Amino acid sequence: MLEIKKLLSSFDPATAVISGADAAWRRLSDLFGCFSDLTAYKAAMALDDALVYSVASSAPADGEGDMHYGAGLIMPGRIGREYFMTKGHLHVWREAAELYIGLSGGGVILMEDESTGESRLAPLQPNHTVYVPGHTAHRTINTGSTPLTYLGIYPAKAGLDYSAIAKKNFRCVVIERNGKPVMVERRSISK
Ligand code: PA5
Ligand code: MN
Repeated sequence: MLEIKKLLSSFDPATAVISGADAAWRRLSDLFGCFSDLTAYKAAMALDDALVYSVASSAPADGEGDMHYGAGLIMPGRIGREYFMTKGHLHVWREAAELYIGLSGGGVILMEDESTGESRLAPLQPNHTVYVPGHTAHRTINTGSTPLTYLGIYPAKAGLDYSAIAKKNFRCVVIERNGKPVMVERRSISK
């Protein structure tokens, strides 16, 4: 059996820090090509290469049936009308689903079925879960005015595939309209 310290962990729901776990920080410069409004992106970059999100990952075991999990924090903010968000990815092992648990703040998860291109927006809020099925690209978006934090739990063998999203981006974007987040087709707002 795994040693007890691998069976237990603690995390801070306000900062998305998992004690003893590695973390990665993503700044605006890491999200080149993600936001639809390039002019607004360049203007924001000229002011500050701001922190957009962080993600801590814990991998207690790597066997066939094991699970890994991450804790994310997305800062509030926008580039043009588009909210701060993660890069988004598919899982290398396409069948892998993921369970998100909202911890603090408010946002949405944008999902896109890889084969049909169908898009879905699911609210992500404290004490609520979002189930992201396999074969689904997913991007997490902070639509609130405070940091959004969450946990994501997935099969150890899921893996992260950023390449498909980096090439074509998501078909839809989530923008602020009249103070509210709405999902629209990227091509309807492209400049
Ligand atoms: O496993 C997940 O899906 C999350 O923990 C994400 O990795 C986290 O939201 C960061 O997003 P991305 O991996 O797209 O940069
Ligand atoms: Mn994932």
